[in-house]
Parts: sequence; C-alpha cells; structure tokens
Amino acid sequence: MATTICFIIWAVFITDSVWTRTVRQVYEVHDLEDWTAQDLDCPRECFCPPSFPTALYCENRGLKEIPAIPSRIWYLYLENNLIETIPEKPFENATQLRWINLNKNKITNYGIEKGALSQLKKLLFLFLEDNELEEVPSPLPRSLEQLQLARNKVSRIPQGTFSNLENLTLLDLQHNKLLDNAFQRDTFKGLKNLMQLNMAKNALRNMPPRLPANTMQLFLDNNSIEGIPENYFNVIPKVAFLRLNHNKLSDAGLPSSGFDVSSILDLQLSHNQLTKVPRINAHLQHLHLDHNKIKSK
Ligand SMILES: *[C@@H]1O[C@H](CO)[C@@H](O)[C@H](O)[C@H]1NC(C)=O
Ligand SMILES: *[C@@H]1O[C@H](CO)[C@@H](O)[C@H](O)[C@H]1NC(C)=O
Ligand SMILES: *[C@@H]1O[C@H](CO)[C@@H](O)[C@H](O)[C@H]1NC(C)=O
Repeated sequence: MATTICFIIWAVFITDSVWTRTVRQVYEVHDLEDWTAQDLDCPRECFCPPSFPTALYCENRGLKEIPAIPSRIWYLYLENNLIETIPEKPFENATQLRWINLNKNKITNYGIEKGALSQLKKLLFLFLEDNELEEVPSPLPRSLEQLQLARNKVSRIPQGTFSNLENLTLLDLQHNKLLDNAFQRDTFKGLKNLMQLNMAKNALRNMPPRLPANTMQLFLDNNSIEGIPENYFNVIPKVAFLRLNHNKLSDAGLPSSGFDVSSILDLQLSHNQLTKVPRINAHLQHLHLDHNKIKSK
C-alpha cells in the first residue's frame, strides 16, 4: 500500500517536471526571443508565465521588498508577503500597470513613498486589504476604479484624497477604525462615479455626510449608528442597496418618511432597536427586519 502511494507520488512528480520541461521546450523552439526577453527581466523571486506575458506572480513568498517591476507588466500579484514599504523606485518603469494586489502584507502609511502610487497613470485596481494602514493612502492615481482597503486600521482620510478620482466606482473601507470625525465637508466631493461604498464594521455613530450622488450600494453594517437625518436620501437618489444591520437604530432616529425612497430595492435593518415596521416604498423587493423589538400583533 505504502509503496503504491509512493510510486504514485513519484510518478506525478516525474510527469509534472517532464510536462514543465516540454512546455519550456515548446517556447524555446517557437518563441525563443519572447521567452528569453521575459526570462531576462523576470525578477528572480517571481514567476513570469510565458503564456501571460503581462502578469507577474510574486505572491506567498515571504518577500520583504517589492522587486523591480518590468515595463511590460499590467497585472502584479504580491499578496501574502511581509512587505512594509511601497517605494517609488521598483515602479519607475511600470507605466502599464492596471492591477496591483498587495493584500495581506505589513504596509504602513510611513512606508509609502509620496509618488509611488500616483506615478502609475493607468492603474485601475488597487488591493491593500489586511495591511497596517492608519490613513487612506494619498495621493492616488486619478485613473483608479477600485480601492480595496478592508481590514486595516484606517481612521483618517487626508484632505483631497478622493477629489480627483472621477472614475472610482468602488471604495471598500470595511473593518477599519473610522469615527464620525474622519469626514470633512468635501471628503467625498469629486467621486462622480462612485457606486459602491462599504464602511461596515467601523465605529460610526452617524450616517456619513454628503455622499456622492451616484451611490447605489451603501453598506454600513456593524457600526453604532443611532439615527438617519431628515432628507438624508435626497442627496443619494440612486441608492438601491442599503445595509444597516447591527446598528442602534430606533424608531425616533428615523426620518419622518422612514425608508419611503423609490430607488431602494434591498433594505437590511436586522439587529437594531426598532419597535415598529418603518415606512417603506412599494418598489422595495427585500426587507430584513429580524432581531429588532417589533411585536407581532
Ligand atoms: C528602468 O529601465 C532602465 C532602462 O532600461 C533601467 O536601467 C532601470 O534599471 C530600470 N529600473 C528598474 C527599477 O527596473
Ligand atoms: C476615466 O475613464 C474614461 C473612460 O474609460 C477615460 O477616458 C478617462 O481617461 C478616465 N479618466 C482618468 C483620469 O483616467
Ligand atoms: C457584523 O457582526 C455580526 C456579529 O458579530 C457578524 O456575524 C457579521 O458577519 C458582521 N457583518 C459585517 C458585514 O461585518
């Protein structure tokens, strides 16, 4: 039995390395120049797939520093390493980058050099989840479409951080340390295309003020929000998905028209302190009200 298993493992191993070698030979025969070019500029610590020359895989390697990124790269995978800093230097030729995944590292705001991110003029997606950021990094490239900052320690948003991000559609700040005082009058001004804003699991006691007019999905679960100001929804006339589960909403905290807003399709209010079913609109498709204090008559 044991011998059979050993043999199978051995056979798989051999087959696998033969297969790798065959793939390599195929490229050496047919695509010698491309293969050589990639071989030369591929950082030693990373993997450059011959069939996907715009991608660079450097994830799960215990890296402490970002290697020099070749200019041909569009997609950069650096997640799950021990990286603390984002210097400008390794990115100086990486003008084509569209996508950077730096989730699960040890990046602090002090470690991010001023021009490191803003010099990436074509960047669309930036993943920085599970790091040690205390502020939203700034400045960011104006081209950015998605900014993922879940599970950091963000409590501050520097003035003007979002003011040029006209193409940002998704901002994920869930599971951070935001208090109400994180927001200035103009914090969200300029986010003309923002559609999803996630601030679940922070320490907000009030609804975030002056949200972008195109917001469709607003996720605020697991805060300590007690009320919603009168006419709050007038500035976000497209809001369709509103999640406020696990807050401290009471009947008295709701605006006089409740949630009678024609754009809302999905309304989640579980785990609050409501004693009455709030006013809703006839268009509403999903309503979650479990774990409140509503008595059935
Ligand atoms: C950028 O490109 C120049 C010219 O090819 C090269 O000398 C330099 O080392 C490159 N920088 C990085 C960080 O790779
Ligand atoms: C925003 O997106 C549009 C359409 O894709 C593009 O033409 C424009 O250059 C982008 N803006 C920035 C600042 O990158
Ligand atoms: C909110 O907290 C509850 C209870 O701790 C948890 O089950 C739920 O996943 C949390 N939701 C979010 C979006 O953080």
